[in-house]
Amino acid sequence: MEQEFTGKKDYQLSEITVSASCPSNIALIKYWGKYDHQIPANPSISYTLQHCRTQTEMQFVPGEPFSVETWLAGKEEKKFAEKTEKYFYEIQKYLPWILDGKYIISTANTFPHSSGIASSASGFGAIAKCLMLLDEEFCGRHEEDFFLRKASFLARLGSGSACRSLYNGLVVWGQTDVVPGSSDQFAVPYPQEDIHPVFRHFNDWVLLIHEGQKSVSSTVGHGLMKHNPYAQRRFQEARENFSVLKSVLKSGDMEAFIALVEHEALTLHAMMMMSAPAFILMKTGTLEVISKIWKFRNETGLPLFFTLDAGANVHLLFPGNESADAIRTFIGAELLQHTQNQGVIKDEMKF
Ligand code: PMV
Repeated sequence: MEQEFTGKKDYQLSEITVSASCPSNIALIKYWGKYDHQIPANPSISYTLQHCRTQTEMQFVPGEPFSVETWLAGKEEKKFAEKTEKYFYEIQKYLPWILDGKYIISTANTFPHSSGIASSASGFGAIAKCLMLLDEEFCGRHEEDFFLRKASFLARLGSGSACRSLYNGLVVWGQTDVVPGSSDQFAVPYPQEDIHPVFRHFNDWVLLIHEGQKSVSSTVGHGLMKHNPYAQRRFQEARENFSVLKSVLKSGDMEAFIALVEHEALTLHAMMMMSAPAFILMKTGTLEVISKIWKFRNETGLPLFFTLDAGANVHLLFPGNESADAIRTFIGAELLQHTQNQGVIKDEMKF
């Protein structure tokens, strides 16, 4: 499978600047735990966001010794440059020209750096797209399908969940019989015809409960799943959840969708608490918001629910239909007070 991505040895280099933009994504069935070479321990599915994006410009100067310079919003980022250099060495087999020059990479995010929103998915997605644009310049044009599949494959090697950001809508990464064509190597879009219209326009408002660096990185978290005594059961459950989700997505059963998505979020954090050493990324505000959401739902029956990333912030999910107004009012009146600085990022998924 991977051979499909081995790069061409005959290429012609030129100095060129390319640019690409890529959105972030939020997982519904979570990827948490991996094997060597960024192979996920279970399949995952996410919504691709609309507004939280990374814009990247990549200048390539051939003939210079290999080096990478990275700039984030006009500020030089030496750590990110080191990480990117390492990444370029790792993917050399797939882009044989990649070490033949110098790179100046400038990136900007549409969301605040301090927000704690992971920029790795949109960041590596945008870098992978830029690399594929350079590859087209040096080796000739690719079919659109191949372009995106290889960009997704390359993004995965940078940051696992990034591979899902290459497609719009609901996107699957990791082999599962439930989704034909799914793969551990790259992401694929979930078939549109199997998605009820109610799931095609959703809001994701991210409440910034805690801004800034989180205490344990995703890399460390994934690693701790290796010795987590509940890991195998968790991986199995994620697979089972895919079958459940398939029929829910088709039928439009909102209640079952909410139950599954919230269970997945809490399971992710339960895994963290059952790791050794244990760690907790939720904050008091996270728990307060969750309990208010449950109370609101009990009292009104309106479809406001949550998911969580590997962090304290709460992703508030609600369909983009008529009930949205009452939900927005509730968020402003009751939930916003639990953020650190009145911080909320209003995003949506539409396809
Ligand atoms: O792609 P990583 O290594 O940053 O891991 C992402 C893990 C979660 O965001 C918690 C879940 C997911 O599937 O995106």
